[in-house]
Amino acid sequence: MNIGIIGGGSVGQTLGAALAARGHAVVIGIRNPSGEELAKPRAQADTLEAWLARTGSRVSDIPTAAAGAELVINATKGDGSIAAIRAAGHGLDGKVLIDVANPLDFSRGMPPFLMAEYAGPTSLAEQIQAVVPGARVVKAFNTVAAAVMVNPGLIPGPHDLFMAGNDTIAKETVSGIARSFGWTEIVDLGDLAGARATESLLPIWVRLWMTGGSPLVNLHVTRG
Ligand SMILES: NC(=O)c1ccc[n+]([C@@H]2O[C@H](COP(=O)([O-])OP(=O)(O)OC[C@H]3O[C@@H](n4cnc5c(N)ncnc54)[C@H](OP(=O)(O)O)[C@@H]3O)[C@@H](O)[C@H]2O)c1
Repeated sequence: MNIGIIGGGSVGQTLGAALAARGHAVVIGIRNPSGEELAKPRAQADTLEAWLARTGSRVSDIPTAAAGAELVINATKGDGSIAAIRAAGHGLDGKVLIDVANPLDFSRGMPPFLMAEYAGPTSLAEQIQAVVPGARVVKAFNTVAAAVMVNPGLIPGPHDLFMAGNDTIAKETVSGIARSFGWTEIVDLGDLAGARATESLLPIWVRLWMTGGSPLVNLHVTRG
């Protein structure tokens, strides 16, 4: 499949490398795909130059990455996601759009808190859907660390991948990608309003990371 990833940080690179390794044609879209930007050091990620050399994939601007893709992933910072999705615009029409972003505010350091404009009876994923009504938005992968997204076996025992979205077929497509990464426990939280729940899990997840000392931590649902 042709897959466009908006965002070239830790998540974009990790998902992109894993998808490329499974035979997908991946293009990462960033705001300014200049040589200088590709060589720029990135926190907890390679330079995009090194990622390109490692994966044999491509980097472009955001509209090009979206327009050429069959499926698109939003892997931008939460406070930049709406602008990034606006830049992709009609390139997202009709396409499955996996939203991995979390609307977290780090302005007061750690731990972050949810950005007020995406809390309450809304979520970042729903506001993205409102910007691109023609896209088939699925919230997924946002409640685990990047390395775990593509390798759930890094955490022993059963643990869950949550997803939410309005389009059943789109969720099946995303489940297929998750299964290709090794996920077996996939929990469908219903329509896209379920993103309110998964985005709100982040304060708990960050707290578990801080108290346990490792981002290799996740939740598992058991029912009586
Ligand atoms: N890191 C994790 O383990 C993890 C786990 C779960 C969910 N998430 C979520 O996934 C998202 C990406 O995380 P990350 O760690 O990869 O972040 P990151 O390394 O900070 O990368 C963020 C990307 O967002 C882009 N961006 C920021 N503002 C933008 C704007 N206004 N328009 C277009 N692009 C913009 C940046 O673009 P430029 O390259 O153009 O600067 C960069 O490529 C975040 O929302 C995060 O909360 C992360």
